[in-house]
Amino acid sequence: MWNLKDRKVLVTGGSKGIGKATVKEFLELGAEVLFTARKEVDIRTFEEELSGKGYKVSGMVSDVSVAEDREDLVRKLTHEYGKLDILVNNAGINIRKAALDYTEEEFSKILAINLFAPFEFSRLLYSLLLKGTKPSIVNVASVAASVDVKSGSPYGMAKAGLLQQTRNLAVEWAQDGIRVNAVSPWYTATPLTEAVLTQKDRMDPVIATTPLRRVAQPEEMASVIAFLAMDKASYITGQNIIVDGGMSVSAF
Ligand SMILES: NC(=O)c1ccc[n+]([C@@H]2O[C@H](COP(=O)([O-])OP(=O)(O)OC[C@H]3O[C@@H](n4cnc5c(N)ncnc54)[C@H](OP(=O)(O)O)[C@@H]3O)[C@@H](O)[C@H]2O)c1
Repeated sequence: MWNLKDRKVLVTGGSKGIGKATVKEFLELGAEVLFTARKEVDIRTFEEELSGKGYKVSGMVSDVSVAEDREDLVRKLTHEYGKLDILVNNAGINIRKAALDYTEEEFSKILAINLFAPFEFSRLLYSLLLKGTKPSIVNVASVAASVDVKSGSPYGMAKAGLLQQTRNLAVEWAQDGIRVNAVSPWYTATPLTEAVLTQKDRMDPVIATTPLRRVAQPEEMASVIAFLAMDKASYITGQNIIVDGGMSVSAF
């Protein structure tokens, strides 16, 4: 049961960072993976990196915030897989600003990608998940869902909504055998956080408030996402696993 052999998986935002590490983790555990992203060049580069290893994997250009792209993706999954075992709602973006500086357009974009898209994918793929083997959804949230981490308020609000979405769908779809869980990363070394990770004045307080005294690597999120998707986690649903090097339980 410590594997994902022949499971059919969709990872949104799989060309970089946590999504990329998750695609690799799932492939190593024996799964077949379709991943998405907006930039084709990153998709093809990652596919090349994976080629020759005998993996069943493909990437698709698809923007989670565009309705037609979501529908095309569902059509492809229906045609090629005919079912879905695991959905990882990972694609996310952020625009960091003071609350007073956000435009309505920026607010809408942050919520569309981080909150509405996971809801839509979960609903659009419900029928395929029903046909899946021990189906489950893993949503990638953030510690910003629970405490202020200077990420900007719309991002925190969107991720908090994603946690509640996780709980609601977990209860609503438990009778269908679909488990729904979330993983909440703290600072992880990915392109998303690159600008912050290279600034000493911004990193010092992050490290000082993290008992393990370092940021996470994307693989340390991928392993938790994979665990939640496995049969070994068969009694876990509606939960949020905080992966933060101890940050949230430390007062200093
Ligand atoms: N890194 C952290 O410290 C951290 C902490 C807490 C939570 N998280 C969460 O973890 C998830 C992954 O973050 P990350 O750090 O790995 O980010 P990242 O390095 O920026 O990678 C994001 C991935 O999502 C894709 N993506 C972004 N917008 C998309 C869209 N509209 N449609 C489809 N794909 C899209 C990106 O490719 P394209 O740009 O080509 O679309 C890329 O493959 C996000 O949900 C993020 O909020 C990250």
